[in-house]
Amino acid sequence: MERIIINALRSRGTINRNIYGHFAEHLGRCIYGGLYVGEDSEIPNVNGMRADVVQALKRLRIPVLRWPGGCFADTYHWRDGIGPREGRASIVNTNWGGVTEDNSFGTHEFMELCRQLGCEAYISGNVGSGTVQELSDWIEYCNMGGISPMAALRRLHGQDTPWHVRYWGIGNEAWGCGGNMDAAYYANICRQYATYMRDYDGEHRIVKIACGANSDDYHWTKTVAERAGHAVDAISLHYYTVPTGEWSHKGAATQFDSAEYFETLSRTLKMEELVENHSRVLRAVGKGRTLGLVVDEWGTWYDVEEGTHPGFLYQQNAMRDALVAAINLNIFNNHCDSVIMANIAQTVNVLQAMVLTEGDRMLLTPTYHVFEMYKGHQGAQQLECYAQTGLIGGQQVPQLHASASRDAQGSLLLTVANLSERDSCPVTCMIEGAEVRAVRARVLSGDAHAHNTFDAPRAVEPRALDAQLAGGVLTAVLPPCSVCAFTLSDHAGA
Ligand code: AHR
Repeated sequence: MERIIINALRSRGTINRNIYGHFAEHLGRCIYGGLYVGEDSEIPNVNGMRADVVQALKRLRIPVLRWPGGCFADTYHWRDGIGPREGRASIVNTNWGGVTEDNSFGTHEFMELCRQLGCEAYISGNVGSGTVQELSDWIEYCNMGGISPMAALRRLHGQDTPWHVRYWGIGNEAWGCGGNMDAAYYANICRQYATYMRDYDGEHRIVKIACGANSDDYHWTKTVAERAGHAVDAISLHYYTVPTGEWSHKGAATQFDSAEYFETLSRTLKMEELVENHSRVLRAVGKGRTLGLVVDEWGTWYDVEEGTHPGFLYQQNAMRDALVAAINLNIFNNHCDSVIMANIAQTVNVLQAMVLTEGDRMLLTPTYHVFEMYKGHQGAQQLECYAQTGLIGGQQVPQLHASASRDAQGSLLLTVANLSERDSCPVTCMIEGAEVRAVRARVLSGDAHAHNTFDAPRAVEPRALDAQLAGGVLTAVLPPCSVCAFTLSDHAGA
């Protein structure tokens, strides 16, 4: 019998809603075909946005959406994407497949998508091939309420009131596709950009996010924080789970053996070490003013599905991905004192997606269901949660991985993944410092390879789980390879 202990008297703080953020790039079929089909499409849409996809995503209560990239961001010139569509420039998407980008989805369309999803916008500015003036103008275009050249241009294109876009990224992967810079060079440029990224009224301060490290490049974090930390509010981190660790042969989404299964989980667990070490660097450099950590790209990255465009990064999504999502979200919850935002890559049809589409058909992935089961953590108070559990798979993989929180109404949410491929796991959970009288439990489980297809779109979805509560102690049996959510409240029948 494994044990979980929740100490409701100890907390690291509030779980920032933005930890449940998403990322949508002009890459493959994420924007075009996935989120946006245009007003003239036969696929039902609202102002060009796919109605089915938007409706499904709304159930996740997405807090923030990052756009337009990714690598694409550092080739994107925002003026190409405004004004009458027929007049917009067609360009080549040089990062992703060399396909034509007709710019029919631009700033106004992105803001309309955010409006429909009810989320905040996070725009990644072009530092790699753009200019300081260009990014400064984009912010003025989005946020200036009074009279100015950019506000006039925005009004000319039909948007009177400013959107007040709060989150702005200063480039993307400047160490790679965003300009191949070294840390000191980027830090100087970052300061220069930040200088001209203005607030346009006293009420709406923008949040400036410096481009951060790849994985465990602590030198990058230290250098940028030391040299540009005073000019920005946060710094990013990118870390992907690549099962084999080899970019030339990453492994397949639905075909893998036991060793690769555990390797995937073990590589995912590295996120904890990364978050802790980067945060430690930021605290040491900050001397009292610590930059927030924004993990604005994370998720699984496999070889593309056979027969699909290699530049489109389309992959299936199985129960193994659900475990990867659960581990990462538990880690972010448990480090809510340093992680202020995270954005899974990517929302639709690319990498670890929530939704896959094929023509007018759509399916929800196991990862989607994890985000739905975890959404109660958004904005809740993190609670100390400890799993007394053995290691499995010949790796440093714990059988259980958990986090817990308490919402404003006093309900507790405990989310636990049973990482064992084959063994179910009887669990006892003690709750210190909170009275609980009722429990409702849900589980997402299946073989590690189980996934939804367009012919069987509901093969993997959450169902009710048996759970008992006696004398304030929760017991349940977690199926193998499962993600479970327990909602505990102090009123019977809740
Ligand atoms: O998410 C796909 C790509 O991964 C992004 O464009 C880039 O930032 C990262 O390397």
